Amino acid sequence: MKVFVTRSIPEAGLALLRKEADVDVWPGPEDEAPSKEEILHRIKTADVLLCLLTEEIDRAIMEANPKLLGIANHAVGYNNIDIKVATELGLPVTNTPGVLTDTTADLAWTLIMAVARNIVQGHQYVKEGRFRIWEPKLLLGMDVSPGGSGKRKTLGIVGFGRIGQAVFKRSKGFDMRVLAYDPFQKEAIERTEGVEYRELRDLLRESDFITLHTSLSEKTHHLMGEREFSMMKPTAYLINTSRGPIVDERALVKALRERRIAGAGLDVYENEPDLAPGLTENENVVLLPHLGSASRETRDKMATMAAANSLAMLKKERAPNTVNPEVYHTEAYRRRIA
Ligand code: DGY
Repeated sequence: MKVFVTRSIPEAGLALLRKEADVDVWPGPEDEAPSKEEILHRIKTADVLLCLLTEEIDRAIMEANPKLLGIANHAVGYNNIDIKVATELGLPVTNTPGVLTDTTADLAWTLIMAVARNIVQGHQYVKEGRFRIWEPKLLLGMDVSPGGSGKRKTLGIVGFGRIGQAVFKRSKGFDMRVLAYDPFQKEAIERTEGVEYRELRDLLRESDFITLHTSLSEKTHHLMGEREFSMMKPTAYLINTSRGPIVDERALVKALRERRIAGAGLDVYENEPDLAPGLTENENVVLLPHLGSASRETRDKMATMAAANSLAMLKKERAPNTVNPEVYHTEAYRRRIA
C-alpha cells in the first residue's frame, strides 16, 4: 500500500506512515510544490494522497486513480480540495482540527501586539543602529489594554469557531470589550459571558482590532472589501490569520494607503505567496509567511494526525477527522473499497 505525500512533512508523520506503508514523498525542493502534471503522474500508483494546502486538488486529480482510497490534508483548512467532487466520487477527505487552535490564536495575538505597538519598526530601528537615546515620542503605538487612557479597547472577532474562541480566551488578560460575528455560532456567542454578538457592519464600526477566524467559502470570499474598510474606524487594525481570499487585498492596500484604517497584521494572502501591488510599501503593515500553526510541537502533531488519517483510509476504516462523513454512506465509496 502506498501513500503519496505531495511535499515533505515533519518526520514524526513520515515515520508513522512508514511503519505500515510505502511512502512516496515528492522529491522536489522543500520550498516548491509539485506541478499538477507531477501530481497526476504520481497519484496513479498511490492508495492515499497526503497533501498540503499548497496543492489544489480538483476533479482531474481525483479521477486520475479510481483505486484511490482517500485524501488527507495536512491542515485544518481544506479549501484547496473540491469536497463536493470528492464526496461524489466516494473519496473521504480529512483535515487536522484542534491541534493548531492555540498556536494560531497565539499568532493572531502576536500580530495584534505587533501592529499596535510598532514592534517590527522598533526592532528594525535598533538593528539599524538608530537607537541613541530614550525619546518620549518615539514610535508611539496604541494601547491594547486600557493603558494610559483607562478606556477599554474593543476586539471584534469574525468567526467564533475553535480559533476565534481561543482568541477570545486570551483577550481576558487585556480587559477588552469583545464583540463577535458568526451567523453559525450566534446562540453560542449569546450564551458566552464576556462577548456580545454583533452583525458584521456593527462589529466593524465599533472595534479597535478586527481579527478574522472564519473558513474560506463562496460566502466568505472578499468578506472584507472596500465597503467594509470604509466602515472601520480610521484608528482600527485588521488582523488575518485565516485565509487570504477572505480579504480583498487590493481594497486593503487602498485603505491602508489612504489611511482609512490604521494598519493590518497579515499571515495569509489572497494569491499566496504573491502579494497585492503596494502591500509591502505600506509602513502600517506587519506581514508574515503563513506561520499560524508553525510551532515545532504543532506541526509534528499535524503530521501525525494526517498520517493516522491516511493509515485509517488505507485500512478502509473511517478516518478520525473526515470532513465529509456522508461519503461513507455512498455507493461510490462502497465501490471504491470493494
Ligand atoms: C491550516 O491548517 O489551515 C493552516 O492555515 C496551516 O496550518
